[in-house]
Amino acid sequence: MRVLVTGATGRLGRVAVPRLRDEGFTLRAVSRRSRTGDGVDWVAADLATGAGLAEAVAGVDAVLHLASSPNRRTHDIDVLGTRRLAVAAGHAGVRHLVFVSIVGVDRVPLGYYRHKLAAEQVVAAGPVPWSVLRATQFPQFLEGLLGGASRLGPVIGDRAVLAQPVDPAEVADRLAVLLLAGPSNRVEDFGGPEVLRFDEAARAWLAARRVRRPLLPIRIPGRLGRELRAGGLTTTATPTGARTWADHLADTYGGTGGR
Ligand SMILES: NC(=O)c1ccc[n+]([C@@H]2O[C@H](COP(=O)([O-])OP(=O)(O)OC[C@H]3O[C@@H](n4cnc5c(N)ncnc54)[C@H](OP(=O)(O)O)[C@@H]3O)[C@@H](O)[C@H]2O)c1
Repeated sequence: MRVLVTGATGRLGRVAVPRLRDEGFTLRAVSRRSRTGDGVDWVAADLATGAGLAEAVAGVDAVLHLASSPNRRTHDIDVLGTRRLAVAAGHAGVRHLVFVSIVGVDRVPLGYYRHKLAAEQVVAAGPVPWSVLRATQFPQFLEGLLGGASRLGPVIGDRAVLAQPVDPAEVADRLAVLLLAGPSNRVEDFGGPEVLRFDEAARAWLAARRVRRPLLPIRIPGRLGRELRAGGLTTTATPTGARTWADHLADTYGGTGGR
């Protein structure tokens, strides 16, 4: 199967590309910059303008759409860019568009999530038969949040917020299964093996990095806080990934990571 991967240089794309390639998919990978290597055919394309998209989708069977821009021009890139991609893929006769979204986009009131939900709707309304997989947070994302939360010294956060980190390599394996299954519309969410409170995740992170910092509890107000504490970012769907937060910390920092 010939598959175009957008977002191939991102956190998920970097692990998905070698895994899919090794499973026998013939890959074309998109970046805004021209690149070579990784045993795939790279094309330059920009979702914000549509430049290069027609060439990128020509002759592929499926598109795995991982590109996203959470912090800049999100509407342009995630919503309108997804539409540009879907239209180009429709013209090219692509038979399957697989889109990766996030657990909680319909529940947790964050601006980025509103754009992801809108992009899901663009995919569903578009001309190409589709699948949408919502995944929970990648551990690297959780680490980024913890890094931001401890910039001033103590780890500042709402202790009762729930997270369910999932290894991007396991998400990539799930995506390979979806590509082979063909268009399936919205499929079961995919989360990590355990739901952690923010304070548990923070303590394990500090211990793995051998850093002593106090936790400074705050309460995230309003509906955002309520949804985050009520598990808006988590899923009860099965199967889940197997790799835990402790596994990630042990791989990243050595030691047992609290296992
Ligand atoms: N991070 C998480 O915890 C998480 C959890 C669940 C689901 N997801 C979803 O999984 C997907 C991948 O996330 P990620 O964390 O791997 O993303 P990431 O590391 O932020 O990578 C973003 C990718 O988007 C591409 N991109 C950005 N703007 C673009 C544009 N204008 N045109 C074309 N490509 C553009 C970038 O490619 P170049 O810079 O090479 O152009 C890059 O490869 C996203 O859809 C995200 O919403 C993420």
